[in-house]
Amino acid sequence: MNLDDCKLIDLPKITDPRGNLTFVEGGRHVPFTIQRVYYLYDVPGGAERGGHAHKELHQLIIAMSGSFDVVLDDGTRKGRFHLNRSYYGLYVCPMIWRALDNFSSGSVCMVLASNHYAESDYFRDYQDFLRAAAR
Ligand code: TYD
Repeated sequence: MNLDDCKLIDLPKITDPRGNLTFVEGGRHVPFTIQRVYYLYDVPGGAERGGHAHKELHQLIIAMSGSFDVVLDDGTRKGRFHLNRSYYGLYVCPMIWRALDNFSSGSVCMVLASNHYAESDYFRDYQDFLRAAAR
């Protein structure tokens, strides 16, 4: 899998004068079953999150509030995505190095993930990741 497999997904949006509603169904709007949800919040200005890759994990990254950038890198090519709508999700396939930066104040980043947390699924060293991606 490479950068071409990662894409912005336009999630269903039920507009309503009382407030809009968006939903995500595992296996339908995202190409995986959802086993975990986590979110980043209270991110201080100038901070960078991520800085790792996953061996098998699939994820959908959503800016629930505010905005931030996600830089994806498959070992050959890089792409920067600006997320600023709660009805857009960025699908990230396995074996992609990612870094999140440029967080606006008060932003919330929600991540839907295909598996429970497992440190053994991480590449935390960029050179290790590059070697594995080149295989
Ligand atoms: P990490 O994935 O490195 O954060 P980010 O990619 O957002 O910068 O995780 C930070 C810490 O939180 C690390 O010690 C592992 C822990 N953690 C969990 O225990 N469970 C989780 O679901 C996640 C995502 C992280």
